[in-house]
Amino acid sequence: MKNKLIIGNWKMNGDSVSNKVLVNSILNYKTTNTDIVICPPAPYLSQVQSLIAESDITLGAQNVSSQNNGAFTGETSVSMLNDIGCTYSLVGHSERRALFHETNEVIAEKIKQLLNANLKPLLCIGESLEQRENNETESVIIEQIQEVIDLVGLNNFAPVIIAYEPIWAIGTGKTASAEQAQDIHKLIRDYLNTLDSSIFCDLTILYGGSVNESNAASLIAQADIDGFLVGGASLKADAFEQICLA
Ligand code: PGA
Repeated sequence: MKNKLIIGNWKMNGDSVSNKVLVNSILNYKTTNTDIVICPPAPYLSQVQSLIAESDITLGAQNVSSQNNGAFTGETSVSMLNDIGCTYSLVGHSERRALFHETNEVIAEKIKQLLNANLKPLLCIGESLEQRENNETESVIIEQIQEVIDLVGLNNFAPVIIAYEPIWAIGTGKTASAEQAQDIHKLIRDYLNTLDSSIFCDLTILYGGSVNESNAASLIAQADIDGFLVGGASLKADAFEQICLA
């Protein structure tokens, strides 16, 4: 069976002292069949990389530029992420979409950059509460995926990991039920398999949105949930361990 993938998205939290304490705890987890990825804020990528260097834990960035290099103040390029030992990068997190006005088009460009640099993109998608209530969940999600496929091509999309994060569940303590999450995960898998089942036999779809030590077991028991993207609970060593053990 494929290992479950658990990503800790620290968002804009931590400092060099607390990072070290947290990573040292994670290094002592007794997990099996689980791949753990940590996504610290950009200034701490190198610090975390050196702390996890001898372990099976992998490094991810929270964001990446859609540009190669040059006059893009404040941005981080794929070659920089490669240079410091990153394996993954989140793209299109709902906070990036909402607060930093990232469009599906920009997100698709970022995914293209990552794929060209052999980095693994984690494409975050999800609907707002309003969209869910208006029965737009399916169309919103398919559009978020399709725009990336249109730019990078279906074959190239295969390594992309999808993180389904309903916006109404992020940081709200209000998680999707296991059934609600499973329904959307299945919808995503079915959609991609309809496009070409030979490409997507190994597709990984993560769930995110208020995942914690209490709901992780019921969510991960769902057939189409391959792991989690964890925000708040990934900052708490004990809670994150319970999620990884689930
Ligand atoms: P949360 O965040 O677990 O705190 O809801 C998830 C995310 O934003 O990736």
